[in-house]
Amino acid sequence: MSPFLVTRTLPEDATDAALRADVLKGLTEHPKTLPPKWFYDARGSELFEEITGLPEYYPTRAEREILVSRAAEIAAAARARTLVELGSGSSEKTRYLLDALTGLETYVPVDVSESALTQAGQALVAERPGLRVHALIADFTASLELPDTPGPRLVAFLGGTIGNLLPAERAAFLGAVRALLSPGDALLLGTDLVKDEGVLVRAYDDAAGVTAAFNKNVLTVVNRELGADFDPGAFDHVALWDAEREWIEMRLRSRGGQTVKIPALDLAVDFADGEELRTEVSAKFRKEGVRAELAAAGFELAHWWTDAGGRFALSLSVVR
Ligand code: SAH
Ligand code: AVI
Repeated sequence: MSPFLVTRTLPEDATDAALRADVLKGLTEHPKTLPPKWFYDARGSELFEEITGLPEYYPTRAEREILVSRAAEIAAAARARTLVELGSGSSEKTRYLLDALTGLETYVPVDVSESALTQAGQALVAERPGLRVHALIADFTASLELPDTPGPRLVAFLGGTIGNLLPAERAAFLGAVRALLSPGDALLLGTDLVKDEGVLVRAYDDAAGVTAAFNKNVLTVVNRELGADFDPGAFDHVALWDAEREWIEMRLRSRGGQTVKIPALDLAVDFADGEELRTEVSAKFRKEGVRAELAAAGFELAHWWTDAGGRFALSLSVVR
């Protein structure tokens, strides 16, 4: 087998059909919403990488700090021969796990972003002779099937991306991941933690405006894929903390009343002045909440590590 293989688990037109369905539903409901997975075309993936280096965006640095200090413990507990990573993006932080997992044979990065998967996969096989990389272009919230690779498997879901799912979606997702695993396999989960509102809001509304550009990129995706005529300049980026639900919401607020045409859906969407379109939730967690959500899906939290500042956590659950 070639050391780098890419498999698309959905037919090309499934992405198109899913985008159409999400845009039709999300822009005809009230309040208007779009799911965050549509941020990540090639440009969106680049913008996310830029976000990870911003002074205000602490989660990537905090999670890296934990991986640097705990990768050996994670590797000793998981003893994985296959590492599956959901929403792998650039696979940058994954390198700490790849270094520590001495018995690892195959890395399976899973992402909707083909550009991110290809760049990361090619770089990894060039750097690491002996490692097989089997990339999956797939939606991890849809029925996920993993290649037949040797166990034990470690499934990593880093970055706090689980927080971009709504609570019911998280429950379904964790249940589906659990169903893929066998005794001896493990789940490594990154969760951003509840903290000071100012710190949180600044992380999602940076001074350089990179997060605003990332947020508006979803409009460019809809323009390109569905022929829509969104003017990204006619929307303002909004990040706010919902203290009750303990999540950050990113929204796009219409500057003035406007009508957007989406020819592929034969749809015209009216926005009132100031009307907001929710583009992402980013939930923040507490240890007991994570433990409970894992338990509800059949996982038992075995390890909980945070960075020194207590901003971000990695948890490890080993399947019994
Ligand atoms: N794990 C990396 C990247 C996080 S960004 C890190 O910690 O830095 C979130 C990643 O998840 C992006 O690469 C995006 O393309 C991917 N993603 C978002 N929703 C997805 C979905 N439903 N299915 C598969 N990948 C998804
Ligand atoms: C990928 N995910 C965990 C990021 C987050 O922090 O929720 C996406 C992001 N949105 C705005 N900035 C970064």
